[in-house]
Amino acid sequence: MTDRPRFGVWANVHGTMAALCHPDDPVDASWRRVRDQILLAERLGFDSTLIAQHTMNPLDESLDQLDAWSAAAAAAALTESIEIIAAVKPSIIHPTILAKQAQGIEEISGGRFAVNVVNAWWIPDLERSGIGMLAHGERYVYGSEWLHIVRRLLAGERTTFHGKYFHVDDFVLHPTGTYRRRPRIYLGGESAPARDLAAAEADVLFLNGQSRAEAGDLLADVRRRPRTGLDPIRFGLAAFVVTAPTGREAEDLLRHHWELNAADKAGDGDTIERFSTDTDPASVMWQRLRERPHIGPNGGTAAGLVGDYDTVAQRIVDWHGDGIETFMLAFQPFEAEMERFAAEIIPRVERLTTRNRAAS
Ligand SMILES: Cc1cc2nc3c(=O)[nH]c(=O)nc-3n(C[C@H](O)[C@H](O)[C@H](O)COP(=O)(O)O)c2cc1C
Repeated sequence: MTDRPRFGVWANVHGTMAALCHPDDPVDASWRRVRDQILLAERLGFDSTLIAQHTMNPLDESLDQLDAWSAAAAAAALTESIEIIAAVKPSIIHPTILAKQAQGIEEISGGRFAVNVVNAWWIPDLERSGIGMLAHGERYVYGSEWLHIVRRLLAGERTTFHGKYFHVDDFVLHPTGTYRRRPRIYLGGESAPARDLAAAEADVLFLNGQSRAEAGDLLADVRRRPRTGLDPIRFGLAAFVVTAPTGREAEDLLRHHWELNAADKAGDGDTIERFSTDTDPASVMWQRLRERPHIGPNGGTAAGLVGDYDTVAQRIVDWHGDGIETFMLAFQPFEAEMERFAAEIIPRVERLTTRNRAAS
């Protein structure tokens, strides 16, 4: 684990990461907007960007949704230092083809590409495309075989695999390993099979935003699961940041987010109501949203990065002390709040981290 927190931003591929009706954040999932957002993140010193993968837009299927993998390849060519992570639902693409594409973007980026394996929660784009959605547990049987193949191909291993879903014979990719052994593998999820799969095959487990107590149990549980031939697993956390010079201003901002959220619902039907028919009830992300409504993607404000600058910086340092290395952040309005985070929070975190190191 790195001795300081790593910061990433969600690429704005749905056009917004929170309300659809924010007056200063028009819904815009265009390549130009996402390109500029990633370039800005790189200039501001962010370490990573996560490009979520959906075929239709889960916020509203009439809205634009930027394609993750073409955007990742283009961003790889335009950037120089930022890590580019593209999400993939295993069921949409054969593992040999996905490994080839990942390896291609690894080459374009000069060794900065990573895959985020996500076993899906939103039903319409899998069912209505005819691809189909297996039951939650079975998705992990499929996903385990899929990731077993992908990881070996990415590492340049000649691969033979015969399982329930895949039959691969003596398959190998060239080139591999030009910049490092292979691209990094993230996995987004929290259920028991997600934990098993991350421990067995992934480098980093991405958690949904939640309390530190809940996450502490989860990290300990994942570390106890079988893992061979890999470095110790690392952890990342999705979080939506609401920060301001004073705690009162941050509370006002959070209240404003909730008002916008309510206005969206008034205009578009209740979000949770709508998601309840379109979402696999076994998905832990969905269960969290229902139990603890929050702002932002994948747990968002439930990670607690809400408050004045010093409070948010201290919370990040506390999370890092608990074992969270990468913070995958969302904001609204995205670019302005990302700039505020870079100006106010990152330097505070660096000062705290340096002070803690000197004291230990
Ligand atoms: C950081 C993070 C990013 C995610 N990105 C996506 C995504 O791009 N597309 C998607 O369909 N699901 C995404 N998911 C959601 C997973 O598909 C979902 O959590 C799924 O239900 C697997 O988790 P579970 O096994 O805990 O239920 C993401 C989850 C996390 C934690």
